[in-house]
Amino acid sequence: MNKFENILIKEVQAIITDRPVNTEGSVSWSSPSNIAIVKYWGKRPGQIPANASVSMTLSEAVSKTKIAYTYSQKRKALSVKFKFEGKEHKEFGKRIGKSLDGLIEIMPWLSYMELSITSQNTFPHSSGIASSASAMSALAVCLCEIEELLYGKRVTGDFYKKASFVARLGSGSASRSVYGNMAVWGMTACQPLSSDEYAIPLKEIHDDFLGMKDSILIIESGKKSISSSLGHDLMKSNPYARLRFEAAEENMQRLCGIIKSGDISSFIDILENEALSLHAMMMTSSPGYLLMKPNTLEAIERIRMFRMETGTEIGFTLDAGANVHVLYPEKSQDKVKSFIESELKPLCQNEMIIHDCMGSGPNRI
Ligand code: PMV
Repeated sequence: MNKFENILIKEVQAIITDRPVNTEGSVSWSSPSNIAIVKYWGKRPGQIPANASVSMTLSEAVSKTKIAYTYSQKRKALSVKFKFEGKEHKEFGKRIGKSLDGLIEIMPWLSYMELSITSQNTFPHSSGIASSASAMSALAVCLCEIEELLYGKRVTGDFYKKASFVARLGSGSASRSVYGNMAVWGMTACQPLSSDEYAIPLKEIHDDFLGMKDSILIIESGKKSISSSLGHDLMKSNPYARLRFEAAEENMQRLCGIIKSGDISSFIDILENEALSLHAMMMTSSPGYLLMKPNTLEAIERIRMFRMETGTEIGFTLDAGANVHVLYPEKSQDKVKSFIESELKPLCQNEMIIHDCMGSGPNRI
């Protein structure tokens, strides 16, 4: 068993002998999505990442989740009702049920709960934005708050560390969404407090990075042809996997220094290298697959050309999909916005672009 998980089990054992004080109630949180700079791609059993990753927390792309709960000792098993954007959502409900079952050891009180969960996203459904990070982190903070309400006291030494642990079990990248600005998940030599079990906030961020913009070009909306879980799985047999994990750790080490010193042009080097490496892993998996579309490549070409011709600080990254995240510091936004409007917007499906920026993490609503 992992170290932090052990601590969580001990902490909860110490309180579950108490009588719950608030057996009914509800909590609501909004929690953001995030975009990885150094990517997590490939995992070991128990939702442990094959390499460390670092991400920027978004501000506008959030999930808003409300959980109403009733606790009863008479209940024999957890019961969950789930509604997404007002309607029952079977696939998501199933995934949430599975995640909650996996939490019984660290949240044994869940067995006596009836939960009614409603969730909605601020970003358009099937816009191609990964919603698992925002949804799973919102669920995690809600559960951690319910635990405290139920027993009427602090259960754990660090609320967000526990929330990150819980979020990770639902979706690896969700572990990073519980913190504002930037977060690191996975053990890395450049962050002595880092862990594979939870994410930590990245502390030393140069002012020039704060408020960083992310304009998300929706090149293609809709469901991805290959899920992230299958993609992670295919890394087990990818012949370049070992080199990729080593390269990711090198990028982590360089990036931590770069973020501290404010060197935006080196940041962009790593940002783009990571995006292309992620997609190279997809292409070299067996079977190999491509998630980029012709307009993904066209957008990349135009961003690079604009940077070369104007010297503007602007870079791109990709998630596991065709959409392009255009990152640029706050101070470049006037120049970049007009370039995006004239050169990149026509490449997007229905000219859809979501303008987002670095955000401050989950909020109680
Ligand atoms: O958290 P998952 O299992 O959806 O995987 C996310 C993987 C990437 O988004 C491609 C990279 C990352 O680190 O967020």
